[in-house]
Amino acid sequence: MTYTTILTETRGRVGIVQLNRPQAMNAFNLVMLGEVFDALEAFDKDEAIGAIIVTGNEKAFAAGADIKEMAEASYVQMVVEERVAVWDRIRKIRKPVIAAVSGWALGGGCEFALSCDMVIASESAKFGQPEITIGVIPGAGGTQRLARLVGKHLAMEMVINNRTLTAQEAQQFGLANRIVPVEGYLDAAVTFADEVASRAPMAVRMAKDAVNAAFETTLTEGLNVEKRDFYQLFATEDQKEGMTAFIEKRKPNWKGK
Ligand code: CAA
Repeated sequence: MTYTTILTETRGRVGIVQLNRPQAMNAFNLVMLGEVFDALEAFDKDEAIGAIIVTGNEKAFAAGADIKEMAEASYVQMVVEERVAVWDRIRKIRKPVIAAVSGWALGGGCEFALSCDMVIASESAKFGQPEITIGVIPGAGGTQRLARLVGKHLAMEMVINNRTLTAQEAQQFGLANRIVPVEGYLDAAVTFADEVASRAPMAVRMAKDAVNAAFETTLTEGLNVEKRDFYQLFATEDQKEGMTAFIEKRKPNWKGK
């Protein structure tokens, strides 16, 4: 596949999608959005890949949706073209997606990181929802995912008052899993993703499915999803392998079946 706005590579079992519009601070135009999701879906289908990283560059993860592309859009165009619906494609990715964020993650950039399963932040990472400063509000899930993740009052402050979070604050409020030095931040994220990719693939899928259910359902329904997923794993060879390996005091050899 040839892409014009992203770069892709694989390192072992880790697939990397790099946003590559540095001249626009990696702002998401429609072409880049389509390419990012195409690349995510391709890695999701590839059995050799166990985890996926989305990253930008040291200065900018992504500075949001492309303001120049949407500045002239009318209400009718936004509705008819359903311009933000495309962002939903990330919810269908079954493998863990890790955002490796350095520099700005603003607007849609912050929302993209929020849509990932885990976030590795470099010391220079800055997260914010500045849409209010250009007369709109977040449109790709920011109000909903931020409120669930960092709580109502901080989400309000970020969305209404353009409060930006440093990497330290992002970690403190549960938005970032780890903070790593700017230099080599992607290598650090790959090491992290490598560990994720080394786990039993079916169990990882079920784990992602079950944790996500916590954000979408009642406790009772979520517990039912977890129970169903847990029981289903007893139909896999990897469950037998994992438990046998524990008893035999050796490392398991996962088959992904
Ligand atoms: N859209 C389009 N172009 C953008 C952009 C964006 N979101 N963010 C930056 N750029 C462009 C700039 O226009 C500039 O291009 P030119 O050189 O052609 O003028 C180039 O990237 C470099 O940007 P700056 O000169 O502004 O760089 P800086 O270092 O001074 O500032 C920044 C960096 C703080 C990220 C600043 O660019 C900025 O505030 N960007 C906009 C952030 C924003 O408001 N994002 C929300 C977008 S709306 C959204 O995301 C909706 C949604 O929920 C889906």
